[in-house]
Amino acid sequence: MSALLTIERLGVRIDGPAPVDLVHAVDVALAPGERLGIIGESGSGKSLTALAVLGLLGHPLVAHGSARVATDAGEVEIVGTPSRRLDRVRGATMSAVFQEPLSSLDPLMRVGKQVAWPLAHHGGLRGEALRRGVLDALADVQLSDPERIARSYIHEISGGQRQRVAIAIALAAGPRLLIADEPTTALDVTVQAGILELLQREVAERGMSLVFISHDLPVVSGIADRVLVMRGGRQVELGETAQILGAPSDPYTAELVAASRRLDGFLPRPTPERGA
Ligand SMILES: Nc1ncnc2c1ncn2[C@@H]1O[C@H](COP(=O)(O)OP(=O)(O)O)[C@@H](O)[C@H]1O
Ligand SMILES: [Mg+2]
Repeated sequence: MSALLTIERLGVRIDGPAPVDLVHAVDVALAPGERLGIIGESGSGKSLTALAVLGLLGHPLVAHGSARVATDAGEVEIVGTPSRRLDRVRGATMSAVFQEPLSSLDPLMRVGKQVAWPLAHHGGLRGEALRRGVLDALADVQLSDPERIARSYIHEISGGQRQRVAIAIALAAGPRLLIADEPTTALDVTVQAGILELLQREVAERGMSLVFISHDLPVVSGIADRVLVMRGGRQVELGETAQILGAPSDPYTAELVAASRRLDGFLPRPTPERGA
């Protein structure tokens, strides 16, 4: 099957007279329905890689290399394409959920209107169909009392509810690829599991591909088919989740896994033939 997302020698640098490279040569392709985890310590380049794929880097950051997404009209190259020309790709083909829901929500607009926008813009819904679509989208992300949530401003709802709204908006246009960058890191531990379950269920039911970025290895191990490990802006390893987290061949990955094991015992144990 041909890839939904193809990343080739993708890099990010600070543009200027003395350019600084922040991300170097990331290479990975994602099949439809595949779930890729990206792990690595803070500052390793995970978020910049995600923003480059989404075409959301702002001056002075620029991407180079290639990141292409498959659409009905053929592959679209993200790198080098002006942000406004990616409007038809973002939302409908790929969308994102970030660590901090407030960063993607508008404080001055009622929740319902924010959910309505992608449904109208990409889905063509109007009038009563649009009103129903908004309530369905909110119910889909398991927000009880969608009517009330739709009428609310985001300061009137909880952090967990805000992230559910952000997910509803990200899913509203029926994207084929969801990029989730630490989607539960800013949330209370008590609501994290619910958000993860929701993401996993939606991705499975809709047959979406997922790029899931997290520093939490047990969570990644439960979600991802394959894992890409980053360090210092470089891709260190890429492989099947069980292989990478169960029997890492790179010393840095082994260190991440050992540190995570010291915290909890959820990770796969080393496989007999390759383990210590
Ligand atoms: N706008 C920016 N200007 C300069 N440096 C940046 C900018 N954004 C991120 N960086 C640097 O790039 C590196 C990678 O950042 P990031 O992708 O956010 O890391 P991660 O998500 O893995 O924690 C870090 O060293 C960070 O300080
Ligand atoms: Mg980050």
